[in-house]
Amino acid sequence: MISLAGKRALVTGGTRGIGKATVELLRAAGADVLAVGRASHGDLADPTGAEALGRAVGGSLDILVVNHGVWEAEGVALERMTDAQWRSTLSQNLDSVFHVLRVLGPRMADGGAIVLVASTAAQRGEAFHADYAASKGAIVALTKSLAVEMAPRVRVNCVAPGWADTEMAARPYAGAGRAAIEATIPLGRVATAEDVAGPIVFLCSNLARHITGEILNVNGGSVLCG
Ligand SMILES: NC(=O)c1ccc[n+]([C@@H]2O[C@H](COP(=O)([O-])OP(=O)(O)OC[C@H]3O[C@@H](n4cnc5c(N)ncnc54)[C@H](OP(=O)(O)O)[C@@H]3O)[C@@H](O)[C@H]2O)c1
Repeated sequence: MISLAGKRALVTGGTRGIGKATVELLRAAGADVLAVGRASHGDLADPTGAEALGRAVGGSLDILVVNHGVWEAEGVALERMTDAQWRSTLSQNLDSVFHVLRVLGPRMADGGAIVLVASTAAQRGEAFHADYAASKGAIVALTKSLAVEMAPRVRVNCVAPGWADTEMAARPYAGAGRAAIEATIPLGRVATAEDVAGPIVFLCSNLARHITGEILNVNGGSVLCG
């Protein structure tokens, strides 16, 4: 049903986890995909990293998945959060997305699709991870802003995953952690990276041609919100 043959795509954070699964699924659908990671393309929190990425892309893009992000496993109360942690999270999860969109947004072909990746933390907050929740809440607001700015030429949507089985969340799953987390998810398990990649690819595809500014929750029912 989904054919992306002839489409040019770029996925940030495409070297691991959800990004890597998205790269593989886009390729399986026929797209020509550039997988971007820090080792190959530099730190996107640095504006020069995003500018270099723009030069590396050359030409136009049909699909842009802005997926990269960081989450500090060690929780900390806001009153004890350092300036360094706050700035680092906002810089890596939000400034970097701004840099990528500023450089690559104008490169989007007519009829193109952008998908950003937020989190359940954007929808319900995340105690002791307020830096992360604030950065992801901003991604939701960015999605809705850009969806209107870029319409009708380009669609802009967002996927908000819940717990997913990737390196990012490996620490909380250790020991009895995984079972405790899964007990909070109505569908009874954390997502695989592929569980999240599928809805991302759907939003990139023509099946989602009348959807823009949407936040698609992929969380096994753990956070029910419109
Ligand atoms: N895993 C979860 O439970 C979960 C839940 C909700 C939302 N999410 C979101 O889903 C997205 C993907 O997460 P994941 O679980 O797949 O994470 P992951 O396995 O830790 O992979 C993160 C990817 O982002 C890249 N990255 C991070 N900071 C970057 C920066 N400043 N510049 C360039 N690349 C950067 C990493 O590149 P390197 O390989 O070079 O480090 C890596 O490819 C993130 O936005 C995350 O916040 C994840």
